[in-house]
Amino acid sequence: MKKVFDMLRLDGKTAMVTGSHAWLGYDIVCALAEAGANIVMTSRNKASIEEVAKEISKTYGVKTMTVEFDQRNFEAVSKAMDEVACTFGTIDILVNNAGGGSGASEGNLLERDAEDIREMIDINLTGMLFCCKAAVKYMIKQKSGKIINLGSIAGIVGRDRAMYNKAGKNEQPVDYAAAKGGVISATRDLAGLLSPHGICVNSISPGGFDKGDLPHEFVKLYSEETPLGRMGKMGEDIKGAALLLASAAGDYITGHNLVVDGGFSIWK
Ligand SMILES: NC(=O)c1ccc[n+]([C@@H]2O[C@H](COP(=O)([O-])OP(=O)(O)OC[C@H]3O[C@@H](n4cnc5c(N)ncnc54)[C@H](O)[C@@H]3O)[C@@H](O)[C@H]2O)c1
Repeated sequence: MKKVFDMLRLDGKTAMVTGSHAWLGYDIVCALAEAGANIVMTSRNKASIEEVAKEISKTYGVKTMTVEFDQRNFEAVSKAMDEVACTFGTIDILVNNAGGGSGASEGNLLERDAEDIREMIDINLTGMLFCCKAAVKYMIKQKSGKIINLGSIAGIVGRDRAMYNKAGKNEQPVDYAAAKGGVISATRDLAGLLSPHGICVNSISPGGFDKGDLPHEFVKLYSEETPLGRMGKMGEDIKGAALLLASAAGDYITGHNLVVDGGFSIWK
């Protein structure tokens, strides 16, 4: 019988995590590297992630590689995937973490710049589809693969705007919710498309994680609305979910949206 801790190991696997120099992407990189995976980190500015990549390599004793692309540009994404496959021979795990943002203009749809709306969808949804399209051709060849897309609880429940207003926090854009809802639906459908090739596709939908820059009042109100009584902790709360879906321990899980939100969405 297989031992579950062995099933969580990723020794010799190649894992690409997009937009991963900090925050959730960095935590996912640490989790996968700790499990033994060689890591590919991506950025729109490669020079800015070289040091972090070296630190990961030194800390976890794995190989690291950095590649540069803006995920709105399919040619750039595709070229980077080719580089990775050429260096490591495979792309076993793709974590589409890059995204987020709210754009420079007002978040309220009625006031929002049309270009910010388009950009939000391009970055969070089209970019994720581009990364999947470019990586999947290698996964199909090797008849295996794991894709993990970062959704959000904004993709499954509406925002309580009163909470944001009370804490004096900016309005959160509807187009972000639209993009993340798209990520979750695309994940499900892609899982069906790729299942004959032995590729698992899942999403992780985090709730609010505290980066230490939020107004105290917002953290308090958000925590009160969360069954587990707090926001997500950077450095801890995303790691287990990512490793489960990236490893053989999750081999029978596909098309799933794993919500990591301390229960926030169950009361909505
Ligand atoms: N932080 C949270 O509370 C939270 C909650 C729910 C979902 N998420 C999602 O989790 C993911 C990570 O969020 P985070 O807050 O840890 O990091 P973040 O949103 O601060 O940064 C994500 C990364 O994406 C990169 N990126 C942005 N646009 C890009 C583009 N066009 N091409 C390539 N890279 C690009 C950024 O450079 C950055 O490295 C995002 O997809 C976000 O939407 C975050």
